[in-house]
Amino acid sequence: MRPFGQRPQRVSRGGREMTLLFLFLSYALALSAALARAGHRAQSAASGEAPRRRPARVLIVGATGGTGRQLVAQALERGYAVTALVRDPSRLKAEHPQLTVVQGDVLDAATVEAAMRGQEAVLSALGHKRFIYPTRILSEGTRNILRAMATHGVPRLVCETSLGIGDSAGRMGLYFTFFLLPMILPFYFSDKARQERIIAESNVEWVIVRPGVLTNGEKRGRSRHGRHVGSFLWTVRISRADVADFMLNQIESDSYLRTAPGVCW
Ligand SMILES: NC(=O)c1ccc[n+]([C@@H]2O[C@H](COP(=O)([O-])OP(=O)(O)OC[C@H]3O[C@@H](n4cnc5c(N)ncnc54)[C@H](OP(=O)(O)O)[C@@H]3O)[C@@H](O)[C@H]2O)c1
Repeated sequence: MRPFGQRPQRVSRGGREMTLLFLFLSYALALSAALARAGHRAQSAASGEAPRRRPARVLIVGATGGTGRQLVAQALERGYAVTALVRDPSRLKAEHPQLTVVQGDVLDAATVEAAMRGQEAVLSALGHKRFIYPTRILSEGTRNILRAMATHGVPRLVCETSLGIGDSAGRMGLYFTFFLLPMILPFYFSDKARQERIIAESNVEWVIVRPGVLTNGEKRGRSRHGRHVGSFLWTVRISRADVADFMLNQIESDSYLRTAPGVCW
């Protein structure tokens, strides 16, 4: 026991830093564990059903973004009639006889419904940069999309989320798991996990596409995809062009129906 009047020994600086590091690592691990629980987790293997009839008309949400622009360009190249739901049409910078632009916000259920009329599939590359405070843009926007799909009988949704959620937790590499995610993206990824859960609980034919870190590189036309892609150590990447290619394949095939494949180079 410390004699009366003696000052307690000061915790050394190194000891305090180790404690802080330990607390931070515990927080990062707890966050990944929470995202693993909150996002979609596979219940069964991919369906492997026969290829489906290719839809002709598709709605693209997030069409002015990096992946969205690739989706628009590649969908038009593949011969689809494309409707782009955009907040600001001047940002789309694309013109084509098969392209219809509908101005609207995904958080406004009425505009989402107007854009949904007559569609056969929806591709969503919704995203935003409001990382630092809690938002529900992805989850509430996706809820509006699903409601409008139910109203208009649109069967299929292909939605881009990210590696690092549900049963892909940790698969974006150490830098992401122990720095970016806990320091910058905890609110954004919580909303992404909610978004995945809402999709997985819906009755539509859905495919959640989880890319690695996105680049603006060229389309290589080949990628690794499936439940076990990604790395627990290294940052894995893929171009937005290849993600768009993979997403478009998912409206033409049932091989990943009601599953959440990761995709990276
Ligand atoms: N960056 C990465 O390394 C990475 C890695 C894995 C996954 N992801 C995810 O992949 C997705 C696509 O990323 P990206 O960088 O290609 O996209 P992005 O450039 O961030 O574009 C996001 C799109 O969503 C639209 N949007 C945002 N809020 C909207 C709203 N309320 N109503 C309608 N549209 C709205 C934006 O429209 P405006 O043009 O009007 O803003 C834009 O078209 C995101 O969910 C992202 O988190 C990113």
